[in-house]
Amino acid sequence: MSIYSHRLRNQGTIVLTFFLFLFDIRKKICIFAVDNHPNVITIVKIIYSHLIYQIISNTRAMPKAKSISLVKPFVKWAGGKGGLLPSLDALLPANFADLANVTYVEPFVGGGAMLFYMLGHYKNIRRAVVNDINADLIHCFKLVKDNPQELIERLRTIENNYYHCEANGRKELFYAYRDQYNKTTISDDERAAVFIFLNHTCFNGLYRVNASGKFNVPYGRYKRPVICNEKVIMADHELLSSIEVVICTPGDYKNISRYIRPQDCNFIYFDPPYRPLLDEINFKSYSNSPFDDKQQEELKSFCDVLANRGCFLMLSNSDSKNTDGSSYFERLYEGYNINRVIAPRLINSFPQKRIPQTEIVIRNYL
Ligand SMILES: C[S@@+](CC[C@H](N)C(=O)[O-])C[C@H]1O[C@@H](n2cnc3c(N)ncnc32)[C@H](O)[C@@H]1O
Repeated sequence: MSIYSHRLRNQGTIVLTFFLFLFDIRKKICIFAVDNHPNVITIVKIIYSHLIYQIISNTRAMPKAKSISLVKPFVKWAGGKGGLLPSLDALLPANFADLANVTYVEPFVGGGAMLFYMLGHYKNIRRAVVNDINADLIHCFKLVKDNPQELIERLRTIENNYYHCEANGRKELFYAYRDQYNKTTISDDERAAVFIFLNHTCFNGLYRVNASGKFNVPYGRYKRPVICNEKVIMADHELLSSIEVVICTPGDYKNISRYIRPQDCNFIYFDPPYRPLLDEINFKSYSNSPFDDKQQEELKSFCDVLANRGCFLMLSNSDSKNTDGSSYFERLYEGYNINRVIAPRLINSFPQKRIPQTEIVIRNYL
């Protein structure tokens, strides 16, 4: 009996998805499933609808770049949004592709998965504003935008040095470059190349600094890491130079405020450092400045100001709980629209925690 009803329910899901597809309300499928039915069958539905949505979103894309598959982050980044893009796309303002004069703003850009996705898919984005507190990361974005050839040449030299070493030699080379990176005497451009090399060869692509600001992630033991990904850098360069892209001086997210023009349609995507789940040790240190609850609250006030200035806001974070079990972000962002989506946590220091988790998406529009 229960197997029979299970089968019927699954058949129902297939038929429902098909009709939703026909009636062009597909964007709501995966969000509907996550929000309403947190049980096992629903997880199957979510994965199923997610796959369907991925197929659909790939076919409806409006690529500006030559090859959309190459338009992706040139660094691996903890908390990167690569696995969440279809769900975030489904939560964009209605008819986003038809809005005029769009400025896309990302104050915590990290690897820029969402930035590259948005610039690659929405040709109505005329301007972008990019910010992060990590100075080397921001310098890499500047080089990719303005001087990719020089960056590629530096990376190719490092890659050749690395590939010519035996296993032990590669490890030694990694630590030699890490020491060089931690010295202030190295030029900004060389530092950017070493930063990308360390990112591709260190443990899990993490960026972590100690109390004195020194990068301290150990060697990662990859068989043949790609260090100079020329095609990706050039595809990213093409996008970043195809419209006006403001790369802010590295610093706090509030930097973006001065680049919000009232005459534009401003869409701002915030992806701040994750608030730890209650049982999780906060291992992500992107810089030596922590992002604690006081800063989460300040960010909420900043969102209120931008909402009053007429911006569209989307913010993602962990589905973190208060000690009484209530949702931290539902309480903090009361009055905003809140959805839950499923995301694979690809970078976690605990392998057993690299499993799909719900994340929260907060918006000031429906
Ligand atoms: C969750 S990551 C963003 C990941 C990004 N969405 C991606 O797909 O790679 C958070 C980012 O916020 C940056 N960050 C931390 N504190 C910040 C602050 N106060 N202002 C601006 N950026 C900050 C970190 O350097 C990190 O790159």
